[in-house]
Amino acid sequence: MKIAVVGSGYVGLVAAVCFAEMGHDVICVDNDERKVKALQGGDSLIHEEYLPELLNRYRNTKVLFMTDLAEATRESEVIFIAVGTPQSDTGDADLSYVEAVACEIARSLTSYKVLVEKSTVPVYTNEWIRRAIERNGVARSMFDVVSNPEFLREGTAVADFLHPDRIVVGADSERATKLLQEIYAPLTEGSYYRRPDAITGSCSAEALPPLLITSTKSAEIIKHASNAFLALKISFINAVSNLCEAADADVEQVAMGMGLDSRIGPRFLRPGIGYGGSCFPKDVAAFRSVAGQLGVDLGILAEVEKINAQQKKRFLSKVRAALWTLRGKHLAVLGLAFKGGTDDIRASPAIDLIGMLIGEGCSITAYDPAAIERAREKMPPSACLKYVDDPYVAAKDADALLILTDWSEFGSLELKRLYKTMRYPIVIDGRNLYEPKVMLDKGFTYVSIGRPTLHQAR
Ligand code: UDX
Repeated sequence: MKIAVVGSGYVGLVAAVCFAEMGHDVICVDNDERKVKALQGGDSLIHEEYLPELLNRYRNTKVLFMTDLAEATRESEVIFIAVGTPQSDTGDADLSYVEAVACEIARSLTSYKVLVEKSTVPVYTNEWIRRAIERNGVARSMFDVVSNPEFLREGTAVADFLHPDRIVVGADSERATKLLQEIYAPLTEGSYYRRPDAITGSCSAEALPPLLITSTKSAEIIKHASNAFLALKISFINAVSNLCEAADADVEQVAMGMGLDSRIGPRFLRPGIGYGGSCFPKDVAAFRSVAGQLGVDLGILAEVEKINAQQKKRFLSKVRAALWTLRGKHLAVLGLAFKGGTDDIRASPAIDLIGMLIGEGCSITAYDPAAIERAREKMPPSACLKYVDDPYVAAKDADALLILTDWSEFGSLELKRLYKTMRYPIVIDGRNLYEPKVMLDKGFTYVSIGRPTLHQAR
C-alpha cells in the first residue's frame, strides 16, 4: 500500500522504515530540510538498534524522504500524522503542529484519504482534525480520521514496532478500518514473522499481535491511560522502595514477589531515580489536564508526579549521606540518557541530577555510550563538568561513582580496575545494577535503591 508518514521524529521515522520492512511504499515528510537531506543520505539521526540497517535498505527506494506534504498527500492512500505534541505551559499537549498538518493535507486533498493520528494526542483530537479539514472545504465523504496510537519504546523501537503486544485502531468507518487492517496484515496474519530475515522482538515466540478495533475516542484514551498506568507502576515501586529502605527490606525481592502474580506482572517494577523521557512526564501531565477539562479529577496522577520528583531528591540525599558534604567533591557519573539503549536526554533524570549536584558545589566527569553529544549541547563542558569517552577515565580519582542510566555495559564493569582508579571506592547506584553483597566483597561501599546500604568497615 502507498503510505505517507508526516514527521520524521522517533515515531515517524521508525514507523516509516518499519512499514517499508512490512512491504509498503512509504513517503516520509518533514518540513526540516536538513533532516530530510540527512535521512536521504542514510544518517538516521537517532541512536536506535536496527534503524541504520533498515534506513540503508529502503531509503530512496521504498521510503522516500521529502519536504513536500502536498505531493505526499496526492501519492498516498493513508497518511499517518506523527508530528510532535510537546507539553505547553499549562501541561496540555500543544496540538498546533497536528492542526497545521491537517490543514495542509486538506488543501491538497483531491481523492479519498485516511488520516491517522499516530502521535500521542488527547481525547477529542480526532474530532478537531475532522473539523479542521471540513473547515478547509473538504467534503466529509472524502476522508476519514483514525486513531492508531504507537506503543514503541526508545532503545527497542524497531523491534517493538514489528512485535507489538497489540495494535489499536480507533475508527468510526468501515472503509478506513479495512485499510488499516490491510496495512498491519503482515503482522496480524504472521507473514512477516515467517520471513527468514525478519527482525526478532523480545516476544517473538508469542502469539500474533491482536488488532483491537475501538471508537476513536477510546483509542485516544487507551494511549494516554497506558502510559499513565506504566508511570504509576514505576512511582508505586519507587514509593515501596522508600519503605523498604526504612524497614531494612530489599525492594528487588519485593518486586519479584509482586511480579510473580500474573495479575501484576514483573515489568515496569524496576525502582530507580524516577521515570523520564519524552513521553511519560508529558503524557501524565496531558492526561491529567484533559481529564480536568472534562470535569474528572485524576488526582492519583498528581501523586505519581510527586513521587517521581521526590525520587530524584532522595537520590541526591543518598549522595550527600554517603559523602558527608558535597561542596568540592569530585564525582564520576555513568549515564546521561533517560534510559539505556538511546541517546535521548529529554527529561532525563540523570541530567537533572547532574544540574543539582553541580549546584551543590560538586565537579563531575560524565560518561555515556551514546548521549554525550546531545548532553554537551544542553550542558556545555565547564570547570565543573567534563565529558569523557570511557567509564574508567570518568572514575579516575573520583570521591564516588554514580550510576544514573541502566545501560547494560554499566552492569558489567571491571570492578577491580574501578576500585584501583577511584579515590574512594563508593558506588551510588540509581539503577540497582549490582548485587550489594558482590560489591561489598569487591571492597566497595555500595548504595542503591530500596536495599540495605553495605558499608566497608574501615
Ligand atoms: C514509553 C512507553 O513505554 C511506550 O509504550 C510509549 O510509546 C512511549 O513511552 P519510553 O519513554 O521510550 O517508552 O521508555 P520506557 O522504557 O517506557 O521508560 C520510561 C522511563 O521509565 C525511563 O526513564 C525508564 O528508566 C523508567 N523506568 C522504566 C523505570 O524507572 N522503571 C521501570 O521498571 C521501567
